[in-house]
Amino acid sequence: MVGQVSLSCHELERFLGEDESRVHALRGVSLQLEPGTVHAVVGPSGCGKSTLLYILGLLDRPDAGWIELESQSVSQLPDHELSRLRRELIGFIFQFHFLLEEFTAEENIMIPMRRLGRLSETEMRNRAVELLDGVGLREKASRPSRHLSGGEQQRVAVARALANDPRIILADEPTGNLDTENSHRAFELLQEIVQRGEKALLLVTHNPAIAQRCDWIHEMKDGQIIETHPRGKVLSIFED
Ligand SMILES: Nc1ncnc2c1ncn2[C@@H]1O[C@H](COP(=O)(O)OP(=O)(O)OP(=O)(O)O)[C@@H](O)[C@H]1O
Ligand SMILES: [Mg+2]
Repeated sequence: MVGQVSLSCHELERFLGEDESRVHALRGVSLQLEPGTVHAVVGPSGCGKSTLLYILGLLDRPDAGWIELESQSVSQLPDHELSRLRRELIGFIFQFHFLLEEFTAEENIMIPMRRLGRLSETEMRNRAVELLDGVGLREKASRPSRHLSGGEQQRVAVARALANDPRIILADEPTGNLDTENSHRAFELLQEIVQRGEKALLLVTHNPAIAQRCDWIHEMKDGQIIETHPRGKVLSIFED
């Protein structure tokens, strides 16, 4: 729907660390994600990308500024309400995938479903297999994740982020440790899921080829978004 916003943040400020090592990690960051759009956040190491994603994903709170989820401000909500909203509405793909290595691919995907507690054991298992099918790993559902390749583990992490059919997907370098072919496959998979399900996706990436395929690119530097470009503009930060 035109004008609808899934997730937005307004003038976020965040300080991290103590005393001399205190860092002003976010300095007035605002952006909004509409359903069916893919946004990239790019910028040098340490500029605040992961900090921003953690706050947008309700895993951390800002020191100032606010977040709106589906047009409702969530700033005043207690932690347990934030956790509930996160489980229901947000899928997170971390910078390091954080799969439980001893658990099978299927069991890893069932963890967020268990936390939400809406499906029976059989329903959860069936859904996990369906999601693995979607990322091309149906055959490997019962394999411990430590016996999967890096690219396969990343695809399990994508499937796990989709477990509760989130409206919003936040991904921190989802293709960071993959080779070119697997990076493109993982990105295309995410792009297709977003378009098919009218979801909103924000991903952090250092990969110019991937950033330039997103609908919007936000350039970050020193805790600020210094520019936002629509797709098609060649980015100065990626020029040599
Ligand atoms: N827990 C923490 N305590 C103190 N400082 C922190 C903490 N976490 C992050 N920082 C600092 O905050 C700044 C932003 O960190 P952040 O992890 O958001 O960067 P990033 O853009 O994601 O970098 P990268 O591309 O390397 O992942 C950095 O200067 C970092 O050192
Ligand atoms: Mg980071």
